[in-house]
Amino acid sequence: ATILVLHGPNLDLLGAREPETYGHATLAEIDAELATIARASGHELASFQSNAEHALIERVHAARGDGTAFILINPAAFTHTSIALRDALAAVALPFIEVHLSNVHAREAFRRHSYFSDLAVGVIAGFGALSYRLALDAAMRRLAS
Ligand code: DQA
Repeated sequence: ATILVLHGPNLDLLGAREPETYGHATLAEIDAELATIARASGHELASFQSNAEHALIERVHAARGDGTAFILINPAAFTHTSIALRDALAAVALPFIEVHLSNVHAREAFRRHSYFSDLAVGVIAGFGALSYRLALDAAMRRLAS
C-alpha cells in the first residue's frame, strides 16, 4: 500500500533548525530512511513538505484518489492553528497518525493543543526522528491487520 508522509511548515529546515529541540537529521534523511523501511515491508512511501497551508490541504485532497492507504502527518505549527487542514483530513477520511519530533506537552502551553489528535489513530511525540519510524511501524501493523 502507499503510505503518505506529510511535513508542515519549517520542517524543510530540519538539521539546521533548533537542533537541540528537533535533532540533527535532515528531512531528506528522514524521508529516505522511511522509504527504505516501507519498501522492505512491501509498501510505497510518498512524502511531501510545504510551508503553505493550502498546498498541504491540496495534497491531502489528492490522497483520496491516488491509492494512499494511510497518512503520517507532522503538521508542525499548523498542529495548533489549522482547522482547515484538520477538516481536509476529516473530508478524505483516511486513517492518519500525528507525529511530532519534540514532546509538545513539555514545551510552551500553546503547543499542548492539537486540532488533529482527536481524529488521529494515534499520536507519537518526543522521540526526534524516531517518532516517524515508530509511526511508520504502527501504520504498517494497522495495514497488515
Ligand atoms: C513540531 C512541534 C510544533 O509545535 C512546532 O510548531 C513544529 C514542530 C514537532 O515536530 O515537534 O514546527 O510539530
